Amino acid sequence: MPITFHSEKKIFKLDTSTSSYIFKIGEGGYVMGLYWGEKLDEADVDYLTVREGHDSNVPLSASVPDWRFSPDTMQAEYPAYGTGDFRLPAVMIKNAAGNCVTDCRYGGHRISRGKKPIPGIPSTYASDDEAETLELFCRDVTGAEFTLVYTVFEDFPVMTRHAVVKNGSDTPIWVEKAASMCVDFTHPAGFELLHLWGCWARERRVERRPLGHGITKISSGRGASGHYHNPFAALVLPGTDEEHGDAYGFNLVYSGNFAIEAEVDAFGLTRVVCGINEDGFSWKLAPGEKFYTPEVVMTYSNSGLGGMSRAQHRFYRRHLLEKKWLASPRPVVVNNWEATYFDFDADKLVDIARDAGALGFDMLVVDDGWFGKRNDDSCSLGDWVVNEEKLPGGMGKLAERIGEFGMGLGLWFEPEMASRDSDLYRAHPDWCIHTEGRDMSIARRQYVLDLSREDVCDYIVDALTSVLSSADIKYVKWDFNRKLTEYSSAVLPADRQGELFHRYILGLYSVVGRIKERFPDVLLEGCASGGGRYDPAMLALFPQYWTSDDTDPIERLYIQYGTSMAYPACTMSCHVSASPNHQTGRKTPFSTRCDVAAAGVFGYELDPRALSEREREETKRRVAEYKARRHIVTDGDLYRLIPPDGDECAWMYVTKDKSEALFTYVRIKTMIAPVAFVRLRGLDPDRTYVDGDGRRYLGSTLMRAGLNLTGGRRDAESVTVYFKAE
Ligand code: GLA
Repeated sequence: MPITFHSEKKIFKLDTSTSSYIFKIGEGGYVMGLYWGEKLDEADVDYLTVREGHDSNVPLSASVPDWRFSPDTMQAEYPAYGTGDFRLPAVMIKNAAGNCVTDCRYGGHRISRGKKPIPGIPSTYASDDEAETLELFCRDVTGAEFTLVYTVFEDFPVMTRHAVVKNGSDTPIWVEKAASMCVDFTHPAGFELLHLWGCWARERRVERRPLGHGITKISSGRGASGHYHNPFAALVLPGTDEEHGDAYGFNLVYSGNFAIEAEVDAFGLTRVVCGINEDGFSWKLAPGEKFYTPEVVMTYSNSGLGGMSRAQHRFYRRHLLEKKWLASPRPVVVNNWEATYFDFDADKLVDIARDAGALGFDMLVVDDGWFGKRNDDSCSLGDWVVNEEKLPGGMGKLAERIGEFGMGLGLWFEPEMASRDSDLYRAHPDWCIHTEGRDMSIARRQYVLDLSREDVCDYIVDALTSVLSSADIKYVKWDFNRKLTEYSSAVLPADRQGELFHRYILGLYSVVGRIKERFPDVLLEGCASGGGRYDPAMLALFPQYWTSDDTDPIERLYIQYGTSMAYPACTMSCHVSASPNHQTGRKTPFSTRCDVAAAGVFGYELDPRALSEREREETKRRVAEYKARRHIVTDGDLYRLIPPDGDECAWMYVTKDKSEALFTYVRIKTMIAPVAFVRLRGLDPDRTYVDGDGRRYLGSTLMRAGLNLTGGRRDAESVTVYFKAE
């Protein structure tokens, strides 16, 4: 049984495949953390409780006679605001009397097999024989009730946590903060924080730094999880590298305002609190109502960052992503955005599709510009009616014409928006998020629709349904190109305006869910000006995500490296684009663009008619090779061999049975007389592997001595080697 309760000592022990998470119910009903790390063989680790005499500035608890105990130094599972713990709170409830003093004490628990969904919010799933769930029932004297939910996965070093707040009183209360989880670590060594920062076209750069005393907050307040910070962070012990050392990953399954906070207190204890960002948040609960937080995926590895990422990738493939799209190979697409931008008509698209079909592609994605009178980005978002001047006969005709070349049709939408110049905005200005009496900020000449409103959500579902049912459309790229400002809703009462951000996200999940229900065979690709909302909740709905608008293969090395810390390759949409690159102006070899794009879900973002004869031949070979070998990347294990910190970068994917591997090396910047041996990882040491030239190597030799990549590679040149075990 992965979850055990020792009733005498009141200790809970949660065992994943390789880790243990232990906490206890202490005197006074305090829920106190004891341990999270490599699996322990015993549960009774009560001696890990912090109990030290302190000065009079540390408050004692009236319900615990032990003078050494203080809520301010205990390792709390769900610390409450205002009752003696001055560190980061996990929960803060404003009661009918208007104060926020909150307490959270144990009142009972239930252990059951499997895992229940979280109403309205995407979450990981498991069958009864794969996981076990503990619900810990806690309460405050005010009548506020808290359920802390822990799910333990038996085959992965992973658990999830979320919380439910219920108003058990007979007056309204307001949830001012309800984190999904809190962990108090006792490691005295001090942690380093690894997180993913960025901006448009520069997403998910890896930063690692020591956690100093005080509070560190990684967050978003933009209404979306965002480009700037990703809802993922890892705590690592100093010295942890790709293959060795402790790494603790936290990934919030949520697409809106989030916060991952860490506090190191005066005693050297580190607290991590993770959940919805409390800034601007307030949720009213009428008597009997419940509030559900999103969940956090907590991954522990004692084999470094590589071990943590591989565990999380496998876990997401098994327990987060839609099975249907893992099993069936996804189409290899040509997207016309960088090929034509807004300058296209049906004949041009058909010409592109003819060429693409001959090269082995499966789908043409018509990206923007096909609706309303949209010939640039100034208008028509919200007016989801096909522009028949450009596309006579509508989508049905286009699908039929490109279908002759074996090409499916995909379409771009930006459903959550209305252009200032649109029929939709003219008819319903109050449908856009705005604050009466204030100017509306504008970005890309568009406003954000208020998805907290049912009428707005219904409009979006109907508008998309009408286009998607007009033709055989097999794929939708769902974009989101600006963030929320002047946050208030025209329909929420004054004491519920703090609910807007979260209601927006709930509205988004429900709209996407309804579209998926109506069109279960349409593959959805997520996008938010590239990877601006790349989070696990989106991935539960969108099996693949446009990783970044930056398609320069050198920039992509950093972006894909950072993305891979948390997310598997089968979610990363990666396209070969033109050179010089449209974002950076950098010239790169065609083969490098192919090698880097083949590290994810491969496609093209250029006009195939502009390819040279040699590039056409290479494209044919690359598309065919990708189709034959994609399982290694999309279902295999990733080993990051050389991070893109210097002048070179290398990685490899290995199938679970270790019978095939795909290795890629990129020389970022050329060097005179370079000597490069790269040791491979993840192979079977006892098997013989053969490369494309027929050269045979023992797995152990490749891992101990490495491949010899010595030779004068120029800037941005690369090589990919496919290995097959005999
Ligand atoms: C955003 C997306 C791009 C493309 C354009 C279309 O920038 O990230 O991939 O779809 O919109 O306007």
